[in-house]
Amino acid sequence: MKILGIETSCDETAVCIIETNESKDGPVLTVLGNQLYSQIAKHQEFGGVFPMLAKREHAKNLVPLFEKCLKEADLFKLKPSPKTLTKKLEKNIEKILEREGELLIELKKLFKTIEKPNIDAIAVTNGPGLEPALWVGVTFAKALGEAWNISIIPTNHMEGHIVVSSLLKRTNIKEKTNYQISETKYPALALLISGGHTQLVLIKNNLKYKIIGGTVDDAVGEAYDKVARMLGLPYPGGPQISQYADAWQKKNISIQTFKFPRPMLHSKNLNFSFSGLKTSVLYKLKELKELTEEIKQEIAFEFQNAVIDVLIAKTKTAIMENEVQTLIAGGGVIANKDIRIALEKLAEEMKINILIPEISASTDNALMIAVAGYMNIIAGKKSSTDFRASGNLSL
Ligand code: KG4
Ligand code: ZN
Repeated sequence: MKILGIETSCDETAVCIIETNESKDGPVLTVLGNQLYSQIAKHQEFGGVFPMLAKREHAKNLVPLFEKCLKEADLFKLKPSPKTLTKKLEKNIEKILEREGELLIELKKLFKTIEKPNIDAIAVTNGPGLEPALWVGVTFAKALGEAWNISIIPTNHMEGHIVVSSLLKRTNIKEKTNYQISETKYPALALLISGGHTQLVLIKNNLKYKIIGGTVDDAVGEAYDKVARMLGLPYPGGPQISQYADAWQKKNISIQTFKFPRPMLHSKNLNFSFSGLKTSVLYKLKELKELTEEIKQEIAFEFQNAVIDVLIAKTKTAIMENEVQTLIAGGGVIANKDIRIALEKLAEEMKINILIPEISASTDNALMIAVAGYMNIIAGKKSSTDFRASGNLSL
């Protein structure tokens, strides 16, 4: 089975085509094509993601990126000569794309000129995320489905972040990356930390989620981004803070000038709060006469340690309270080296398995959406055309 994944929930435009095959060791997933266009440079001048710009960029880049992905997957074939579309198809895709004029023009051209690619299903992120951005991917998927009669699986972005952790890399076949799916022992606990989410999710069974903890204010990635901005570092702040913290760590200085709070560390529930931590960084900065690179490094280091302490304490409590067998890590902030190390240590201490995605698959991508689509298809989820983009979609 070949599945196309489409992701446009935030500032990454991404498409991926995977092929799934059975082997004696279970299903094997081969990545036939995987393309991502990051809009980060475009949003940097705004200091964060600007939703309408994200939407425009997705609309501009999706079709060329999809063509590139088809070529990479060896599924791109031009018609002998361009064919006009039937009146019915033209009417239907005009309806689907009535608010996406630019995409409509590009897609009409595409349908006239290329043969239907051999794809069995389309998985598209329909939430959570920035709604104007999500709509681009959703209408694009619906138009492809309509023109080529391919089934569509609306897919939850956070589920993508969860399932991508179970990909276990095998040796490349014909230069294509391929994966097996690791076994998940249940109950599993997912710690999801991204720009928009901080969640502890209990998974008692395959694809069955219960949110048992969340943030009462900022998400972890949001706190990283805001603290970075206070330090005068560009968006996205996570990788910046991580680098500054690393630089401080390498200096191996034992004197500590800054101490930030560990919010809700001892609260009885599984909720997080990061806005107080962010504010105490802000107050500290106001007290300083000057902000040297060295001070930035130490602040980044102490901020990151505070985040890690809270994440680990809450995750540990959730593991113990629910007799968790597998710890799953997901979301863009999981790209952070020190957070990865701390979670791996925790899993070792608790003697449970840990599933953690490759760094490249931690931040937003379309592979995770294709994989979530695949898992939902084998779990019996049916194709749908009657769904909306939903900014607040929950697991
Ligand atoms: O999952 P993601 O790519 O997008 C959302 O769904 O939000 O996560 C993006 C977030 C941003 O806040 C970014 O600063 C953070 O992940 N991030 C990191 C690192 N790489 C990305 N945070 C800490 N350390 C990193 N290395
Ligand atoms: Zn994400």
